[in-house]
Amino acid sequence: MPRYQAPRGTRDLLPADRAVFLRLEGIARSLAVRYGFSPIETPLFEQSEVFERGVGAVTDVVEKELFRVQAGRGDQERERWALRPEPTAGIVRAYVQHGMQTLPQPVRLTLTGPMFRYDRPQAGRYRQFWQFDVEAIGDAGPAIDAEIVELGLRFYREAGLDGVEVILNSIGDAACRPAYVERLRAWFMEREDRLPELERERLGTNPLRLLDSKDERMAELIAAAPTIADHLCAECATHFAAVRRHLEVLGVTPRLDPRLVRGLDYYTRTTFEFYRSGAEGQQQALGGGGRYDGLVELLGGKPTPGIGFGIGLDRVALALSAAGGSEPVAPRVPVVVAGADPEDTVTRLAIATRLRAAGITARADLAVRKLGRQLEAAAREGAHLVVICGDEMAAGQVQVKDLEAGTQRRVELADLAREIERTLAQHRHGAGEA
Ligand code: HAM
Repeated sequence: MPRYQAPRGTRDLLPADRAVFLRLEGIARSLAVRYGFSPIETPLFEQSEVFERGVGAVTDVVEKELFRVQAGRGDQERERWALRPEPTAGIVRAYVQHGMQTLPQPVRLTLTGPMFRYDRPQAGRYRQFWQFDVEAIGDAGPAIDAEIVELGLRFYREAGLDGVEVILNSIGDAACRPAYVERLRAWFMEREDRLPELERERLGTNPLRLLDSKDERMAELIAAAPTIADHLCAECATHFAAVRRHLEVLGVTPRLDPRLVRGLDYYTRTTFEFYRSGAEGQQQALGGGGRYDGLVELLGGKPTPGIGFGIGLDRVALALSAAGGSEPVAPRVPVVVAGADPEDTVTRLAIATRLRAAGITARADLAVRKLGRQLEAAAREGAHLVVICGDEMAAGQVQVKDLEAGTQRRVELADLAREIERTLAQHRHGAGEA
């Protein structure tokens, strides 16, 4: 076994995997443009407090999974930092910091990139994973809630993943949730002797988290516990009904689950998760999101509503490969420049450089080896055309061998790029189509 390995819970995206991710990122980018979201990038790390306040101190993500960053010895700033476990808190921090509340609202932002959670690694659960995230800040809904849910579903469809459904709930707001949480606490208190140790501790700090427990001993209790659906205030109930009405018009039928609470503290009202219906094995969310009407204020801005989602690209890639829909395809180079004189790497490199300058994807064979070996290598790579630099060079010509058609012909060097483009245009090549 090699001495150095990627850290546990992380993985290298080798070219074939990266090609799948690039395709998913491309779909994310195109959808974001179509739906009017502008790209934003925030640092991979923030002051820990952004997550502690934003995501919530009593959440798994902050309590157990935050990667805290140790500053260098010479660092005088003495700030506490952490790698981002999710993008929403950082994006809202940027919204406040850059005074985006003065822009036309809502501000629609999107980000795709790696997130970090120190979680127990298993299939589909990594310590570094990718999310496609969208946020609409400054609109209280309900129409935009439906718009965002529909956008999420469209992403899976365009990625080629069938049968993804949305599980929907409203978890109330500052007016009605506190009373419900107290009700829930009291209910579980009456059954405290049946609670596992960890859940008993959580009962004191964050009773809602009990509904999200993965402990099997909790299943029966959770099923019987009071639900928020029966405790929504009139405003929240009206909002939730309107979200569902808008979804219906868009042709989206959500599965309502009054026990969906989500693992992050900033949520209010609309919450949702995306799952593959009928997927085998342990059900893992392919994405999730919701409304966070208190978050901007919590991070120092004026009270401003917001809503968004994060889609887990690693899990989408896994689901695609399990469904046989998107087998990773290694990108191939359509054109290889070879030469009869093994030593003459200068000519091969010069011609490949000219082709690249003309916009053609090409590789020069820079190994000092016989032409036969260069041709074998090109065939193994799945190259379409091989440009062979030989004696004809004296007359300003090269041979172009078409490995797919099994033909070979002379081409004027001056026409080479145009000729190659014409041939390639009749086929489709390139990493982008993986
Ligand atoms: P989240 O539910 O914590 O929400 O994560 C969103 C998605 O990221 C999950 O549904 C899952 O697909 C993926 N994911 C989470 N953890 C892991 C992991 N350890 N390994 C692989 N994939 C993972 C959020 O992060 C919120 N910021 C979503 C949001 C945006 N809410 C409002 N705006």
